[in-house]
Amino acid sequence: EKAGSSLMRFPVIPVRGIPLMKLIANNFDDIWAFRPDPSDLLIATYPKAGTTWTQEIVDLLLHNGDAEACRRAPTPVRSPFLEIVSPPPIPSGLDLLRTMDPPRVIKTHLPFQLVPLGFWENKCKTIYVARNAKDNLVSYYYFDLMNMTQPEPGPFDGYVTKFMQGELSWGSWYDHVKGYWEEREKKNILYLFYEDMKENPRREVVRIMKYLDLSVSDEVIDRIVDLTSFKKMKENPMANYSCVPSPVFDQTISPFMRKGEVGDWQNHFSAEQSKMFDEDYEKQMKGSNIPFRTLI
Ligand code: A3P
Repeated sequence: EKAGSSLMRFPVIPVRGIPLMKLIANNFDDIWAFRPDPSDLLIATYPKAGTTWTQEIVDLLLHNGDAEACRRAPTPVRSPFLEIVSPPPIPSGLDLLRTMDPPRVIKTHLPFQLVPLGFWENKCKTIYVARNAKDNLVSYYYFDLMNMTQPEPGPFDGYVTKFMQGELSWGSWYDHVKGYWEEREKKNILYLFYEDMKENPRREVVRIMKYLDLSVSDEVIDRIVDLTSFKKMKENPMANYSCVPSPVFDQTISPFMRKGEVGDWQNHFSAEQSKMFDEDYEKQMKGSNIPFRTLI
């Protein structure tokens, strides 16, 4: 392990019952007080559900598919991460937002009940992206290996337990996906699935475009689909998180653009783990009808 990295692995501290990275928990009053502009757009996800992909699609839609314009800065600068408080020199999400005029595209991993109320009072448009639990877990596991600000993931088996018990940063995946699902109609939230985006990216880009009341040509839509392919984004220094210094994101351990597939969980869950996970899943998701797919 690199010198200093273990010092940065912040513990998680509960905020209203949700485990959050210590620096975020300490700053939560300021985060909760944030007042967005009605023109701001919120992109909300459980970590590793396809946030960066969606941010890139939205930025390109807002810039009529202009690739150069969307290379003006790295993702977290173009589209600030509301609650993040990073070690210097990376500015906090709130600091960055203060320097930007609306309309802004704001990323959050906060569960619905921790999103500052101003977003709902101002009727901000909100895109939620959900990813099936098993792939989401595997992606988060690799992320926690390489992201030195997150708690050590430990062995995979124990990580599965922590995921099921809602002990990872930003809390329970189950409550997160259900929380936004239950509010999606009342709050006019566009609820997307990573699996749908993989299956038919063009269809989902069009859905996002319509939700944002934008209209771009068919040719531009095709270009956006191409520019936001996994391969193109992995090669794009403004989208692949190479902006984050390597002592923080060690991409030699696992690249931020890791695999980008549906069903990779099959390479990580044993048959036994999968069975146990599915049984618990039935209980935790009982009564909810969110159409998740673990394979496409
Ligand atoms: P994997 O670890 O399964 O590869 P987030 O942006 O929410 O942190 O999510 C990261 C996950 O989305 C990673 O999943 C990453 O590879 C994947 N991803 C990022 N851009 C993608 C794209 N253009 N197409 C498909 N998957 C993408």
